[in-house]
Amino acid sequence: MTDLSTEYLGLKLKNPLVPSSSPLTGNLDSARQLEDEGAAALVLPSLFEESIRSSEEAAMRFLLEQETGFGEAGSFLPVHDDRCFRTELDEYLEKLQTFKQSLGIPVIASLNGISAEGWVTHARQLQEAGADALELNVYYVATNIEESSAQVEQRYIDLLKAVKQQVSIPVTMKLGSQFSSVGHFIRNLEAAGADGVALFNRFYQPDIALFTREVVPMLTLSSSYESLLRVHWVATLYGKVGLSLAVTGGVHSGSDALKALMAGADVTHLCSILLREGPQKLGQILRNMQNWLQEHEYESVSQLKGSVSRERAIDPSAYDRANYVEVIKSHQTATGVWR
Ligand SMILES: Cc1cc2nc3c(=O)[nH]c(=O)nc-3n(C[C@H](O)[C@H](O)[C@H](O)COP(=O)(O)O)c2cc1C
Repeated sequence: MTDLSTEYLGLKLKNPLVPSSSPLTGNLDSARQLEDEGAAALVLPSLFEESIRSSEEAAMRFLLEQETGFGEAGSFLPVHDDRCFRTELDEYLEKLQTFKQSLGIPVIASLNGISAEGWVTHARQLQEAGADALELNVYYVATNIEESSAQVEQRYIDLLKAVKQQVSIPVTMKLGSQFSSVGHFIRNLEAAGADGVALFNRFYQPDIALFTREVVPMLTLSSSYESLLRVHWVATLYGKVGLSLAVTGGVHSGSDALKALMAGADVTHLCSILLREGPQKLGQILRNMQNWLQEHEYESVSQLKGSVSRERAIDPSAYDRANYVEVIKSHQTATGVWR
């Protein structure tokens, strides 16, 4: 049997399949199924900056209302008790503790926000509740055209540093792909203390409803094709940065996962395919990987890792502009379509 183990964020994992944040990883029954199917770790759904802020405001209002009660009427108000006012943060911490007690695999908590302000202090509570690592998803949409790319990147770095000040567990950053120099930015994140990156967030573009003229939020599940953007950047980064590399987006099969590893990923995340086909799909992907690796006489995943990275590829220019020029020139328009 090929040794599938890998190291991610300093954690020894039995294989490289780690379900990413989704409703499946937030439900104990499906999390248990994922573990039974072989998931090596999982990332909980995110705790959002917006939820923490509104929880804090609600808690403040709750406390103030009790303090400003009138005479006898005040006694009808609920007495403040941590057990009767539960915020989303409380619920998240409770879930994290339950998952840690119930699962044998590492549990990665996820914080999701864009500002390096007060809410970030709660990262420490996630560590205290047992998180093995923290994923920090900064889904920042740079709509302010006064803001330069350097300012946008600084925002990520400030937020990372603020979180790192709170915790000693590894922190990985889940990023979008829209940076002008992805590799340089990731190197700066590493210098600022990032232990890993998860590439890439999917960009959820809203749609426009023609008749109502409304802008409509939209979520579609990914396709396998989307993994290639991730594979490209992981292949480019491999050997040039020291942090852990995860591919998230479009990993739907054993082949997709193997390609990501060949490019240099330490783990691949899975989400859409598991939502579409259920936790048992993870077991199938794992078996397909194991079979392929055995057939091709790999002794371990480490042997495979980075073997087709930019540094090691037979033709590294295929990852560069040369690929662009070649594919553009090689395109054949179907006969009869264009005269
Ligand atoms: C329904 C749904 C919920 C998600 N929730 C989160 C979340 O809470 N936090 C997060 O960082 N990513 C979240 N994601 C993104 C996924 O974790 C994953 O990164 C993304 O879907 C790309 O992977 P995929 O192509 O395998 O789906 C969610 C995705 C879906 C479809």
